[in-house]
Amino acid sequence: MCGIVGYIGYREAWPIVLKGLKRLEYRGYDSAGIAIINSKGQNTYKKVGKVSALEAFAENKDKTGTIAMGHTRWATHGVPSDRNSHPHTSNNEKLSIIHNGIIENYATLKEELSGRGHEFKSDTDTEVLIHLIEEIQNIEQLDLLEAVRLALKEVMGAYAIVIMDRENPDRLIAARKGSPMVIGVGKGEYFIASDATPIIEYTKNVIYLNDHEIALITKNDLLVKRLDNVVQTPLIQELELKLEMLEKGGFDHFMLKEIYEQPRSIRDCMRGRIYPEEGKVQLGGIKEFIEKLKNIDRIIIVACGTSWHAGLVGEYLIEEYARIPVEVEYASEFRYRNPIITEKDVVIAISQSGETADTMAAIEMAKERGATIFGICNVAGASIPRLSHAGVYTHAGPEIGVASTKAFTAQVTVLTLIAFYMAQQKGTITQSKLISLLTELDNIPEKIQGALESNDIIKEVASKIKDSRNCLFLGRGSGFPVALEGALKLKEISYIHAEGYPAAEMKHGPIALIDEEMPVVFIATQNSSYEKVISNIQEVKARKGKVIAVVTKGDTEVSKIADYCIEIPDSDEAFLPLLATIPLQLLSYHIAVMRGCNVDQPRNLAKSVTVE
Ligand code: AGP
Repeated sequence: MCGIVGYIGYREAWPIVLKGLKRLEYRGYDSAGIAIINSKGQNTYKKVGKVSALEAFAENKDKTGTIAMGHTRWATHGVPSDRNSHPHTSNNEKLSIIHNGIIENYATLKEELSGRGHEFKSDTDTEVLIHLIEEIQNIEQLDLLEAVRLALKEVMGAYAIVIMDRENPDRLIAARKGSPMVIGVGKGEYFIASDATPIIEYTKNVIYLNDHEIALITKNDLLVKRLDNVVQTPLIQELELKLEMLEKGGFDHFMLKEIYEQPRSIRDCMRGRIYPEEGKVQLGGIKEFIEKLKNIDRIIIVACGTSWHAGLVGEYLIEEYARIPVEVEYASEFRYRNPIITEKDVVIAISQSGETADTMAAIEMAKERGATIFGICNVAGASIPRLSHAGVYTHAGPEIGVASTKAFTAQVTVLTLIAFYMAQQKGTITQSKLISLLTELDNIPEKIQGALESNDIIKEVASKIKDSRNCLFLGRGSGFPVALEGALKLKEISYIHAEGYPAAEMKHGPIALIDEEMPVVFIATQNSSYEKVISNIQEVKARKGKVIAVVTKGDTEVSKIADYCIEIPDSDEAFLPLLATIPLQLLSYHIAVMRGCNVDQPRNLAKSVTVE
């Protein structure tokens, strides 16, 4: 959480940093701030609220300068306010810092520094760090780089930081541990950001700073060291990202654009990985582990939020086709239990961002206990793929809406490929069945296009239930994780309380909630649990609940009893989650728009949860 941007070079820095912060707003939007230096000195502007509030606040102020750094905040320590906005300064106000992460031992450090006369102007953990750096620099009479290095050895927690010294306006210092940081390499200029999106229009050459590395950046030079003082040779990589991927492309919101991108994103995810005519799945990323995979006793999937829901779908698919037991764990719970993990285990970590703190901690724990880690991630070069032994990228393209849509279906696609790949390798699927499944999978992008065509009816349903205070989502089999995902989407962007349940569990409690006010969304497609779901719908109707059913195209049974039916194309049950999720994404989207909610940046949320 929190987005950071820095620039040093020959161009005017303000517009670069401001635009970069707008691109990173998905990481937090509680407040924003920019510090910039010109020949007259340093100007620092900070404002609670979105980056646009900062932009308006600074409109008629001096914003010239070719070295600057900015921050968009997701509040952890201290309420969203001007005074808690970054950048923060040292006691003597010469040094400024922006920070993404949490300094866990800030309270102890703050007490010690207060005892030595430091006065703090904010409630943040970040401010403590810059005071500590100043203290070390003054006491030991060190240059700034060395003072930062020594200070970072004293802090516990996670950080991506940029530091500016108003008395040495020719340099920036950056460092990271546990929070992402990319350095863009230009000619006579460098860019720093939490991800590559603020950098892409200036240079394609980037360096992903590693954990425990610290960089001294001037406009013509870059020095990277580890915290143990060993100088590193940074690896310059070329970005595959394209600028148009970061624009709304004519859609009102990124979320809508991303929903409509799914036929393409799923196609990209499968490209070069499936060969339907030959009945072959190829996953280069995990190929070298195939012998291990054939002999494992179980798979553990760790993830958070929507990625956890994708993991549940993966459990159904891997158990069904590859016949390997799968346990799906919330990373946040898993990391604090004492789970039994052995060298025989494969842990699959799923994450869109590749930066989720709990998922990273779960990986680290499983790795220490000898497990093999496979990462499923959307962001190339993020921390999770780098922590994993092997993995598969989802290739969904940048997902900017905070509510995950195309990343979810791409994760499910990758898990489907893994299930088929393992089944093929283990011989738990016949070649003819595999050919038929892969042929069907190859058609899924077109079928998703078909599911998107129900948009008008979905909009109408949205208008009928938009004022509800609660909503239930019910499904069976792999329709259950779809129900969970539908409920999460509605909660996070429309602020309507929603619950996902296995349809049969309704009788064990939630049925008490049902009355004429309660919309109940059923996944009622024609699959193995169709008849049973129809019985569950009857039970809801008997209690005057309002039923919205996602049905297979041409269904005539459910329409007799449901209040509204939303059709999706028919398909093999294996692909139900890929198709049935689409109308639920659109339903939440339209409800949120009708309720006047901020669809792309819902309150209190951030896209990338880099704190536990
Ligand atoms: C999804 O709509 C959410 N915003 C959230 O649950 C998200 O899936 C979760 O934070 C995990 O993120 P990750 O996939 O980047 O690890």
